Amino acid sequence: MQHCLDAMIAELERRGPAGVRLGFRVIGDGDAGLLLPAERSSIRARDPTRLRQSGAARSVARRLLRQLGCEDAAIPRAASGAPVWPAGFVGSMAHDDALAVAVVAPVGRVRSVGIDVEPAMPLPEEVEDIAVTPRDRCGGADPRLASRLLFCAKEAVFKAVFPLDGEVLGFEDVCVDLQSGLASVPGRSGIGIIGAAGCRVLALACVEEPPA
Ligand SMILES: CC(C)(COP(=O)(O)OP(=O)(O)OC[C@H]1O[C@@H](n2cnc3c(N)ncnc32)[C@H](O)[C@@H]1OP(=O)(O)O)[C@@H](O)C(=O)NCCC(=O)NCCS
Repeated sequence: MQHCLDAMIAELERRGPAGVRLGFRVIGDGDAGLLLPAERSSIRARDPTRLRQSGAARSVARRLLRQLGCEDAAIPRAASGAPVWPAGFVGSMAHDDALAVAVVAPVGRVRSVGIDVEPAMPLPEEVEDIAVTPRDRCGGADPRLASRLLFCAKEAVFKAVFPLDGEVLGFEDVCVDLQSGLASVPGRSGIGIIGAAGCRVLALACVEEPPA
C-alpha cells in the first residue's frame, strides 16, 4: 500500500498548483496521542477511532507545515468542523479507518484547498443516485470507480469552498468535470479539481487567485 500511496500523492502534488504539499499516514493505535492539547480540547468527539483519525491527519499536516517553515503549529477544529490553520497557510485533511491524508499550502496564489480520500470500491447505487448528476464528468476514469471519484471530488470541493463562503453545500450544488479539471458551485466557478484512483480514491480541490 505504501508504494501505491506514495505514487498517488506524488501524482496529485505534481498536477496541483505550485507550493501545494500533500502527505499521508497509515493510522496507528496510538495516534490519538498525536493531538496537541489545543487540538484535543477543540474536538468534542470521544470515540477513540475518530480521535486516532484526527491525530494522524494532524500529524501529517504538521509535518507538511514544517516542510514549509511553520514549526509545531496546532490545528484545532472550529465549531463548524473546519480545521483552523496557522496564519499564512491553508490546508485540508481527510481520513478513513486506516489512512489519513492532508494537504497544505502557503497563502498566496492558492486561496483554499480541499482533500478527500475514499475506498477504491464502487459507490453504492443509492449513494450514486444522490451524489452524481448528469452534469458531472468523470474524465475517462475506470468506470467501476467513476462515481466514487466524483463523490470524492465533491467532498474535496466542499472542503475547499466552505472556508471561503461558509455555505454547507449539497452534492447537487457541486458540478465536477474531471476531464477539464474544473468544478463549480453556486456563485463560484473555476475551482481546480484533480482525482486519482489506485489503492484508494483521492481528490484535491484548489481555489486559486485569478492571474493578475
Ligand atoms: C466535511 C465533511 C465532508 C467531512 O466528511 P467525512 O467523510 O465525515 O470525513 P473526512 O475524513 O472526509 O474529513 C474529515 C475532515 O474534514 C474537515 N472538515 C470538517 N468540516 C469541514 C468544513 N466545514 N470545511 C472544511 N473542512 C472540514 C476536518 O479537517 C475533518 O477532520 P477532523 O475530523 O480530524 O477535524 C462532512 O463532515 C460534512 O460536513 N458534510 C456536509 C456537506 C457535504 O458533505 N455535502 C455533500 C458534498 S458537497
